[in-house]
Amino acid sequence: MSGELSPIDKAKFVAAKRAVDFVESGMRVGLGTGSTAAWMVRCLGEMVREDGLKITGVPTSTRTAELARQVGIPVVSLDEAKWLDVTIDGADEFDRDLALIKGGGGALLQEKIVATASDQMIVISDASKEVEHLGAFPLPVEVVPFGWQTTKAILEETLINLEVLGQHGTLRLNGDVPFVTDEGNFIIDLHLNRINNVRQTALVLNQVPGVVENGLFVDICDVVVIGHGDGLVEVRDINEGTVEQEKIEFVDTDNLFSDIAD
Ligand code: 5RP
Repeated sequence: MSGELSPIDKAKFVAAKRAVDFVESGMRVGLGTGSTAAWMVRCLGEMVREDGLKITGVPTSTRTAELARQVGIPVVSLDEAKWLDVTIDGADEFDRDLALIKGGGGALLQEKIVATASDQMIVISDASKEVEHLGAFPLPVEVVPFGWQTTKAILEETLINLEVLGQHGTLRLNGDVPFVTDEGNFIIDLHLNRINNVRQTALVLNQVPGVVENGLFVDICDVVVIGHGDGLVEVRDINEGTVEQEKIEFVDTDNLFSDIAD
């Protein structure tokens, strides 16, 4: 089955496979959302079922919760877990300081809360998500539905005074209707092209009334695990200042790949 994977899926898989090495029995683990995070949930599920790994998972979306239960990971809410040992999640972009854009899958709010409530956040990614400057990927901003058009207009006006190269926002749609997050909110994607001052942008956007949270993760991610299509993985730890590389072999993992829904 692994032979049928595209190079990008292989890259995502090996990143996930390497990242689960950080998880030990007894840990409370934040489970991210998206196609890369889905590999990680599958890998952890296999470790629970076959190696006796004992963990508690805190999912960052209803779809991750569903997958976690399917693969046998015991799931609790963040309030039950209270604090987590580690969160493993994907990202849409990351830079050399491990600042991130997240929310392409619409789960940024729960993802940010869960990652912030963790001793360590590990991002898993294929190499294409690494950028010199964040912002080519549209920045998701979660807003309450009430007055969203006004919120969007104020956001666009606010952007004029920020160090970004675009000021246009679009409401995220699901077909013909607004995309609705797990928290019942809308998402406005900001087309910024390049964000020169990530910290300022993250802080200022959250001051706009109606904004619940934005998809910039600053000083939250500790480690990035970057996968490549040939099985090479690179682990960069921003706190330790270390970079390690290793090759992960594909094994017969039919059971792991058979029904990934994400
Ligand atoms: C969901 C996210 C995802 O982590 C991000 O969109 C990356 O997804 P994928 O692994 O499918 O590329 O932030 O809200």
